[in-house]
Amino acid sequence: MGKYVIAGNWKMNKPPAEAKALSEDIKPLGAGAACDVVLGVPFVDLQTALDATAGTKIGVAAQNCHWAASGAFTGEISAPMLKAMGVGYVIIGHSERRQYFGETDETVNKRVRAALDNGLTVILCVGEYLEQREQGITEEVVALQTKVALCGVSAEEMSRVIIAYEPVWAIGTGRTATAAQANEVCAAIRNVVKGLYNADVATALTVQYGGSMNAGNAAELLAQSDVDGGLIGGASLKAPDFATIVAAAK
Ligand code: 13P
Repeated sequence: MGKYVIAGNWKMNKPPAEAKALSEDIKPLGAGAACDVVLGVPFVDLQTALDATAGTKIGVAAQNCHWAASGAFTGEISAPMLKAMGVGYVIIGHSERRQYFGETDETVNKRVRAALDNGLTVILCVGEYLEQREQGITEEVVALQTKVALCGVSAEEMSRVIIAYEPVWAIGTGRTATAAQANEVCAAIRNVVKGLYNADVATALTVQYGGSMNAGNAAELLAQSDVDGGLIGGASLKAPDFATIVAAAK
């Protein structure tokens, strides 16, 4: 459907020297990849990753941004700051930020707006908890997260939005959604976007799957009709594994 995008989410891993080594190991992937490749690195590694991947088509993502442009927000980083550095992408609404840092659908929406207003491409994360899946409300949950996050986002701006479906119970647990489960929810998200905008926007949208995607299961997940890429945590910290996943995205 949408263009394939494989993004690593390094989370809170890799101090600058290790980030440099890993970025350089990943750099050759930029040349041959049939998909877009993005590295989502800690704030302190952004410059390192930008330098290491300069001149390649590998993109660099921050893992969050604040909604204000500047001001008294100790410890925060704004979208204009990221843009000024040359960062192209920002991951917003990751379940770890929602779980541990009090982010809500409303603050996710404000961050999405700020990122888009500043020319960044957003990787918007949505996904259900295990209890919600067991209650049979997965599609309602991700539909609500998607609708609130995209409040005030125009059809034109949707060309700079990627949605990552990340079931919370599959993150860092080694328990992957089955390919059918992943495809079902990615298709449901695309359908929500079709309802909000139109069929063209929905068809062009990149919907990633994330949650224990690895070198062994990536090919099957990525072969699904509505899965257009992956947001990869643990396996993105090992260059050979990440390379296998990138190679599977075609
Ligand atoms: P894991 O691949 O480590 O399960 O993490 C997925 C994730 O949260 C990516 O954002």
